[in-house]
Amino acid sequence: MGKLDGKVAFITGAGSGMGKAQAILFAKEGAKVIAGDIQFENVQQTVEKIRAAGGEGLAVEIDVANKESIQTAVQKGIAAYGQIDVLSNTAGVLDGYAPSLDTSEELWDKIMNVNLKGTYRVTNAVLPQMVEKGSGVVINVASIAAFVAGGGGAAYTAAKHGIVGYTKQLSFDYGKAGIRVNCIAPGAVESGMTKQIFEEGSAAVMDSVNSVPAGRYGQPEEIATVAVFLASDDASFMHGAIVPVDGGWLVN
Ligand SMILES: NC(=O)c1ccc[n+]([C@@H]2O[C@H](COP(=O)([O-])OP(=O)(O)OC[C@H]3O[C@@H](n4cnc5c(N)ncnc54)[C@H](O)[C@@H]3O)[C@@H](O)[C@H]2O)c1
Repeated sequence: MGKLDGKVAFITGAGSGMGKAQAILFAKEGAKVIAGDIQFENVQQTVEKIRAAGGEGLAVEIDVANKESIQTAVQKGIAAYGQIDVLSNTAGVLDGYAPSLDTSEELWDKIMNVNLKGTYRVTNAVLPQMVEKGSGVVINVASIAAFVAGGGGAAYTAAKHGIVGYTKQLSFDYGKAGIRVNCIAPGAVESGMTKQIFEEGSAAVMDSVNSVPAGRYGQPEEIATVAVFLASDDASFMHGAIVPVDGGWLVN
């Protein structure tokens, strides 16, 4: 018996890192997974892994910064599996830790469009059928940059703070309609986003990453296990929670 038997999960950013780890673990726990990413080849590989392990998955191309692309991807998912029970808004991009004066309007808009507006747009594309059936789970992926400075630049940190506010309001507005909305705030995790930073990391960067209580950075699978919990009925009384999974980054 899997924790997500009978569920259909739509995961964005499923071509790499935490989205990929969620897609694989959700399928292992019995969910049918619609794995979406702007990098279609990567997400096809994710689905190959799911199928090789005996799970069920569908790869869809999605650009969360593009409304038409979102509609097409969601429609493909629903056409294949009939419904979406769990949405994990995981797709995201980093801003190169740019301070405000080094953040062009173009960069600001890109980070907002993918990280914050993308979360709102994909949610609004999936939510109507959840409201109609009176149940659903939304998991948003923020960051420790949703609480403190230094986890990204000006645009990234502002966008991730925005995801926390959006999570709370979604939860407030749709909880009674049977929708549970929660948010994971990861700390430093080895992924496509950070691999190079960690590989090339100066002593100062790595000291700060390793100075957390866990003494190390995390792996995508350590985020995926928490996402499975939030998606499952084990978290039935969790609404609007922002869950740091950060090796203790925020205790300092
Ligand atoms: N890695 C970290 O240390 C860390 C820490 C805190 C939060 N996060 C957040 O975790 C989430 C997952 O990131 P990750 O670390 O796994 O990085 P990653 O780069 O490995 O994965 C992100 C995925 O999102 C996809 N993506 C980017 N833009 C997209 C778009 N417009 N439409 C659809 N897909 C798009 C990428 O192709 C990639 O596959 C992000 O929201 C990120 O901000 C990461």
